[in-house]
Amino acid sequence: MDFEDVIRRRKMVRKYKQDRPISDKIITQLIKNAHRAPSAGHTQVQEFIIVKDPLIKKKLRIAAVDQEYVEDAPVLIIVCSNTSRSVGQYGIRGRDFYSIIDGAFASMLILLTAVNEGIGACFVGAFEDAKVSKILEIPKQVRPIGIVCLGYPDEEPERIERISLRQLVYYNKYGNTSGQP
Ligand SMILES: Cc1cc2nc3c(=O)[nH]c(=O)nc-3n(C[C@H](O)[C@H](O)[C@H](O)COP(=O)(O)O)c2cc1C
Repeated sequence: MDFEDVIRRRKMVRKYKQDRPISDKIITQLIKNAHRAPSAGHTQVQEFIIVKDPLIKKKLRIAAVDQEYVEDAPVLIIVCSNTSRSVGQYGIRGRDFYSIIDGAFASMLILLTAVNEGIGACFVGAFEDAKVSKILEIPKQVRPIGIVCLGYPDEEPERIERISLRQLVYYNKYGNTSGQP
């Protein structure tokens, strides 16, 4: 798919066809592309947990403030950051800041790859970290960053409008809206 089309078409999909599983080939492609994500100082903190087990999905739904698509999605990829690979190099900034950005970049690559593969996806960040870690037996130094819900779309979500760029882009200093790109 054309790159601009992928960007344009990406939107969160929260309803999935229950009778159409995602092939292992596509799951591998999602992970392979996420693995190309940058990381601070190439610390490569990103790790991925693929969940298809209905009981684990049900528990994760509860940990994610009862968002039903966490249970309904045929596949979940929980993107984690293993801070043990960055804390030595960057200390608290590595643990509390870079780790989140690294995980977010990998998550975005999953979202974009999903569009390219015709898969619907939703990034879920509203969850109780401790509960998710307990359910998935994630060790202390590893932080769950997002639950990416995946499945063939069973809805065509409305396009959500954005704040006008005129209100968001400044020139040379914050707040200065007069200028040219
Ligand atoms: C950090 C972050 C956390 C999010 N958490 C959730 C979530 O818990 N549940 C959900 O349904 N959507 C979640 N979203 C998706 C946003 O609601 C969505 O991206 C936004 O409404 C814009 O819609 P669009 O992505 O379809 O354009 C999250 C997005 C981000 C970036």
